[in-house]
Parts: sequence; C-alpha cells; structure tokens
Amino acid sequence: MMESSRYLKITGGTPLHGSIRIQGSKNAALPVVASGLLLGRGETLTCTNVPQLRDTETMAALLRALGMTVTFENGSVTVSRTGDLSCEMPAAQVQKMRASSIVLGPLLAQQGRAVMPMPGGCTIGARPIDLHLKGLAKMGAQIELHHGAVYATAEKLRGCRIYLDFPSVGATENLVMAAALAEGETIIENAAREPEITNLVQALQAMGADVVFKKDNQGIIQVNGKPELASGSVRVVPDRIAACTYLLGAVITGGEVTVTDVMPQHFDSLLAKLEEAEVGYLRQEDRVTVYPSRERMKSLSVKTMPYPGFPTDVQPQLMAALCLAHGTSVVKESIFESRFQHVPELRKMGAEIDIQGNTAVIRGVETLNGSDVQATDLRAGAALALAGLAAEGETRVHGLKHILRGYEDFDKALNNLGANVSIEEGEGII
Ligand code: EPZ
Repeated sequence: MMESSRYLKITGGTPLHGSIRIQGSKNAALPVVASGLLLGRGETLTCTNVPQLRDTETMAALLRALGMTVTFENGSVTVSRTGDLSCEMPAAQVQKMRASSIVLGPLLAQQGRAVMPMPGGCTIGARPIDLHLKGLAKMGAQIELHHGAVYATAEKLRGCRIYLDFPSVGATENLVMAAALAEGETIIENAAREPEITNLVQALQAMGADVVFKKDNQGIIQVNGKPELASGSVRVVPDRIAACTYLLGAVITGGEVTVTDVMPQHFDSLLAKLEEAEVGYLRQEDRVTVYPSRERMKSLSVKTMPYPGFPTDVQPQLMAALCLAHGTSVVKESIFESRFQHVPELRKMGAEIDIQGNTAVIRGVETLNGSDVQATDLRAGAALALAGLAAEGETRVHGLKHILRGYEDFDKALNNLGANVSIEEGEGII
C-alpha cells in the first residue's frame, strides 16, 4: 500500500517510562547540508548527527540533482562539489519540501543564476518568501517571477545592509549563505536567532567563511564574503523540538522520561512553562528528566514567538498536554496564521477547545478518548500522537507521513518508552 495510507495505531493509557537519545535537528540539518553548495571545486563538507528522515533525504536528492556529490550513511552526510552545477531546482523536490527554498541563495551565489519553482503555501499558512527575495534583490540580484517560478540572476552578489521586517528563519538562512560568497560586507539585522541559525553559522565558519554574530547573537549577523569556501566538518545540533515532544509525552501520560544528548538551553522556554505548570523535572548538562506528578499539570498561558520565545513547533504538542491540565489555558499562535489544524482533531478525542482568531482557549478535561484523527502537518501529527498515548482506548493517527518527516523511528522510539503503538496500513479518513 502507498505510504500516504499508513496510520499510527496507538493503544493509550500507559505512562511513558525510560530514556531516549534525541536525534540531530531536522531544521538545522537542512540548511547545514545545503551550505555545501558554497564549496569550491574539489572541496567537501562533512555533516554528522544528521537525522535519517524523508526531508533530509529530499535535501540530499535536491543537491544531487543540482550536480553535487552527496553520500548519506549512518547519520553522516558528505557534500562535495566535483563537476559543474545546474541552476535549475527540480520541481519534484521543491514541491516535496518547502524548505528546498533555502537552496536559492547559495545556488545563486555560487552559479550567478538560479531557477526555483515557487514552493506554494501549506496547511500551517501561506508561507511567502518575499523576505528571501527582497534580501537577495538588495544584494544586487535581478528577481523575476513568471510561469510559477523564481528566476534569480546576479553575476556577483554584493554585500549590503539588510533589515528583515520579521526574523524569518528561512530568509536568514538563505541570505547568510548568499552573503558568504558575496563581494564585501553584508549586515543582516533583525536576523533569526534560532539555534539552527547558529549551527549554520558554525558550518559556514568550518568551511572558512567569515561570518559572526554581532552583539552576542542579538539578531545581527556580519558576513565578509569570500570567493569560495573550503572543506570542513560540522555536527548538527540536537533536535530541540523532538526533545520537547518526548518530554511532553511524559507530561501528558504522567510518566517519567529522560531525553539525552540534548542542549537544554535550546528549550528553556518549554522548561519555564513546565515549572509554571508545576511539572517536576531535572535539568542536567546534556539531559532533562520529567518526573511523574500526583496532580494534573496546571493550566498555562502561552504565546509563540521567534527564538528564544516559545517555539511554534511545540505549540500543538503543548496544547495536547493542556487538554488534560487542571483549569483553563490560553494559547496564542503568533508565527503562522493557521496552525490550529490539530484542534478539531483533539476535539474528536474529547478535548474542549475554542478558537478565536489566533487564540485557543482550552478547558482541561479529565480524560481523552481514543479516536480516528487526521494529521495535517508534522507537529499537529505529533500532538495527536501524544493525545493518543494519554487517551483511553485506541487512536488511529492518519497522515503518518507528516510525522515521519520530522521524527526518526517514531513508533520504535515510543515503544522503547513503553508505549503500545504500531504502523498500520489502511484508508485515510479525509
Ligand atoms: C522554519 O520555517 C522551520 N522550518 C519551521 O518548522 C518553523 O515552524 C519556522 O521556521 C518558525 O520557527 C525549517 O527550518 C525547515 P519563517 P520557515 O520564515 O523558515 C513569515 C517544522 O514543523 N514569512 O521563520 O519557513 C511566514 O509566513 C517546521 O519543523 C514571511 O511573511 O519559517 C511565517 O508566518 C514547520 N515572508 C513567519 O514569517 C518570508 O519571506 C515565520 O516563518 C518568510 C517568512
């Protein structure tokens, strides 16, 4: 049967228990691997701790399609520039993964021309790329949009000062990579400060780029362009979103889970919320343990914000936990315009949630019931899986492919923590 018809069957009610090594970050690995496009001929970028996921494989395939030599084995990706590169990004990959758009900047900087089919919107929002294109245009690129594709040309990009209207993660990644090969100095102000950006800057530095955060990473990045970059290696940071997801799995089921190989400072915003909700946890240098509590977690008020604020990518999973909290919670989504797709599905399971614009009001209930629910995107799917782990009876999360974009061996990881889940084949419910 086709992948799209697979679902996650969960028999709920067992508290998660045990420890889990957290994978490398998907959202850091994608730009880090893409930065290999900046290499000079004959040079190689080695990236370790790369999660084996559909999206990281799509990035590897995209770079291969452009003419790079890419290997991907046991969590290590090598990207080498051996022959000539194509300037045209294939529609197949761009349509599979919106994050393909971060290839535009480095490809243009390397080749002087890049053609990218427009990635289009997705279920969490319209997700325009105007900030990416405005920044490249400021660096001297001619940008034209026709026949549903972006045509970007610039014999040589020029360094300049770019102020981002919003600290977009993807725009910052595209522009910092483009600036690494531009002529002269580029200053990116109001840049994103996510750990994934820091990891990309580490990769660029490892390849000899002259890139620094000004003022201790307060959103200003300074780049002095180089003619080409050389071989280097970088380790992908731990996936803070996966860590938060498994910790919330412990919270929602009343279990005890230790996430290991993490950088807890990357998810302080969740830990602060757990403290506020009176969930017991222990934070150590590279691990965090959530303890079971006798009481239900307390309700919370949360607003998603760019890093170091509370991540939009953890909003659905936290909301799932808040469905069973004591009291009424308020969750405001300020990054994406329609990232409440999990709400109608959680309601099917007995959650009491009202939505007004970008604010959800969640009245905690005592139990959730197993149900057939549909994952519409990655984190919505993770949230529904967490709800299923806590629910009475059986839950079937359809649209499993979305979850598998971001979580390595999700079913095995949960079963190792004592859950009862399996991947089944069958019809979707939409
Ligand atoms: C990255 O997406 C992540 N994806 C997302 O993770 C994450 O939710 C998001 O950052 C926010 O943290 C990857 O890293 C691959 P943005 P990105 O540009 O770069 C608007 C997940 O679940 N915007 O910071 O696309 C945009 O519409 C995924 O792992 C513009 O208006 O996010 C959105 O409302 C989903 N114009 C907001 O900014 C632009 O040119 C934030 O987007 C660019 C963005």
